[in-house]
Amino acid sequence: MTTNQNNEIYNPPKEIVENANVQEYEKLYQYSIEHREEFWAEQAEQLEWYKKWDKVLDDSQAPFYKWFVGAQTNIIHNAIDRHLKTATRNKLALLWEGEDGEVRPYTYHALNREVSQFANILKSMGVKKGDIVTIYMPQIPELIFAMLACAKIGAAHSVVYGGFSSDALLERIQDAKSRVIITADGGYRRGKATRLKEIVNKAIEMCSVAEVVITVKRTGEEVHMQNDRDYWYHDLKALPVANAKCETEVMNSDDMLFLLYTSGSTGKPKGLVHTHGGYSVYTSTTHRMVFDIKPEDRFWCAADPGWITGHSYIVYGPLINGATIFSYEGAPNHPYPDRWWKMVEKYGINILYTSPTAIRGLMRYGESWVERHDISSLRLLGSVGEPINPEAWKWYHRVVGKEKCPIMDTWWQTETGGFMITPLPITPLKPGSATKPFFGNEIAVVDDDGNEVAAGEEGNLVIKSPWPGMTCCINKDKERFYETYWKRFEKQGWYSAGDAARKDKDGYFWIIGRTDDVIKVSGYRLGTAEIESALVSHPLVSEAAAIALPHELKGNAIHAFVILKHGVEGSKELGTELKDHVAKVMGPIAKPEAVNFVDGLPKTRSGKIMRRVLKARALGEDEGDLSTLEE
Ligand code: WTA
Repeated sequence: MTTNQNNEIYNPPKEIVENANVQEYEKLYQYSIEHREEFWAEQAEQLEWYKKWDKVLDDSQAPFYKWFVGAQTNIIHNAIDRHLKTATRNKLALLWEGEDGEVRPYTYHALNREVSQFANILKSMGVKKGDIVTIYMPQIPELIFAMLACAKIGAAHSVVYGGFSSDALLERIQDAKSRVIITADGGYRRGKATRLKEIVNKAIEMCSVAEVVITVKRTGEEVHMQNDRDYWYHDLKALPVANAKCETEVMNSDDMLFLLYTSGSTGKPKGLVHTHGGYSVYTSTTHRMVFDIKPEDRFWCAADPGWITGHSYIVYGPLINGATIFSYEGAPNHPYPDRWWKMVEKYGINILYTSPTAIRGLMRYGESWVERHDISSLRLLGSVGEPINPEAWKWYHRVVGKEKCPIMDTWWQTETGGFMITPLPITPLKPGSATKPFFGNEIAVVDDDGNEVAAGEEGNLVIKSPWPGMTCCINKDKERFYETYWKRFEKQGWYSAGDAARKDKDGYFWIIGRTDDVIKVSGYRLGTAEIESALVSHPLVSEAAAIALPHELKGNAIHAFVILKHGVEGSKELGTELKDHVAKVMGPIAKPEAVNFVDGLPKTRSGKIMRRVLKARALGEDEGDLSTLEE
């Protein structure tokens, strides 16, 4: 993806600037850096706490930072309970549309009832504070209720994206040691019913930890249910235990709220941990300031709740802010490519937050699909997941935003919990740049020794200071946490983001992409190591390497290089078989675009595959420094 580092500037419209929640950047930024703890304490004061903190930040064990030390809270108290005492009680919390056209509205009052009932059901199944519940669901309201119900009773949730395979699901259930799994019979995608319960059945067939599966009925397709293990959610909901009164558990600020698995450069996916206190403050502050949320707004984050974007900006940030969230189950082009615009018009959506890959996908159908709807309710747009190419940015701005909606291109990660580099609605924008650091964050582009590079030069993106939304650790693996994020710049004590970036002379950041072995496909994060081990698990494959090459719609596509077992010939059919094999092992999003059969792979003398060399060769580019190449 090319970034145009030119100086085209889009100034925000006057009305937006005049009404923005944050009116000034530079001074407040300076203050937030010089008085970091005061700044975050002021933000935390906007929430309710059972008990306030003794200390805002404890950095004595850095990089194992602790925020709001000594405080007691529960994210649900701020996301639901406190709203029940105000007029927000009768406001829509969630407006949901199924792909089949079903519509379900929930006020905060109704949300509380649903979450409390679900929470009581979980308790009756023996779920306790500190347990980890795995959730594997389509994008239906019960997914959100399930997450909130876990949090309410002090259990952590581990949401596994519904596009992952049974093997991937099993691995995550086992790592989290989840005794209780929540799923659905399926959901709708492009007019077809997906079969999630079948995948769960397959995953737990050989798994000794999972004992209870709660299944929500969505599609009504037939599914296999096993006595003493499987329960229909609607049956449980009809029992007296599922009453609508449930105390919210008092949690310490640093108690685990959720676990979310994400791909890293080596080995199996990492379970990143986020906590009740810091995460509440960070997601709500960033959401309020960047998306400029107003009481009357309808906010639509079109991500899947199974990824961090959904956790922070479909569920927690907006609910803490008492916003109305809109959520949609299915594909953007079903039954026609105007589905999104139709819903924006129908519900009067004010803020739309999506990914470059979705924008490119919709752009492909042309402007006329957008133009047949009145989408003038839109005030702000957002983008996340990968660098947005200036062409897509301009289309989004002109065709969707009618040149009056600023685009919030937010750079962040599963690890950061919330936006790190982002514009505010008042920021002059440059298409393709995520602009400047959010309050409290000191961010730089440095060379391998940690020296800041010159303006416009490429380097490593580092975060120099702690922030409340940061992941506190990798589940049960302190060492890996340190190794992955902090070892590279341990002398300086900086967080290494794993991204390459440039900072221009105006201080605007331009993200280039990952520098480690993580591939972003359609904004989804996958590890080359996982793809390669999926390939090698095929009986005819001896060795494999996976790289990302640019793709017009997906941003990146996976290209695999495969050495077959001795005596096996590569063929078109085998290529297809291997692609399907990866899709089966990992899930459809990981299906390679191309499989190339090769006799050897470029490696270092220590045996590490040099994916950089493969990529340069595939693109016909300079292969760079080959001194470590073993030939
Ligand atoms: C990439 C998603 C450019 C980046 C929230 C990061 C972006 C990785 C942007 C994290 C953006 C995310 N511009 N690149 N606005 N947002 N990225 O953990 O490479 O799924 O490191 O979190 O996505 O992916 P993750």
